[in-house]
Amino acid sequence: MDQSQLFELATQAASRSYSPYSKFRVGAALLCEDGSVVTAANVENRSYGLAICAERSAMVSAIAQGKTRFKALAISCPDAQYPVSPCGACRQFISEFVGPEFPIRFGGASGGVVDTTMGELLPHDALHELAAR
Ligand code: THU
Repeated sequence: MDQSQLFELATQAASRSYSPYSKFRVGAALLCEDGSVVTAANVENRSYGLAICAERSAMVSAIAQGKTRFKALAISCPDAQYPVSPCGACRQFISEFVGPEFPIRFGGASGGVVDTTMGELLPHDALHELAAR
């Protein structure tokens, strides 16, 4: 499973987005250490602040399935013409479960993608003394 295949799975997952308010579909595909892929999409609510991002949903779903080690993450936003990176909250959330070298790809509908890492998206990561792992 390479990053292109993972990104394609993220794009497919975006079609399952529940985003009637923003009309901004996001899909995420998380490659787990065992080779399986957990996908998710953003899920919104009429109480707007309750929206759950696709990436966070994928992490939660994987953890709940007993998958705790991860190899890569892809995020696809087919409603954006530019690559949309994970929001600040998601960066912190994902960093709980991966290291700074963890590869992340994100892209929009334009075809262009950005390949980066957890450490690039969340530099100066803090609270190490509180980390459970
Ligand atoms: N969203 C994500 O799912 N992931 C991101 O990285 C950016 C934002 C969702 C949240 C909300 O449902 C919609 O996109 C607009 O912000």
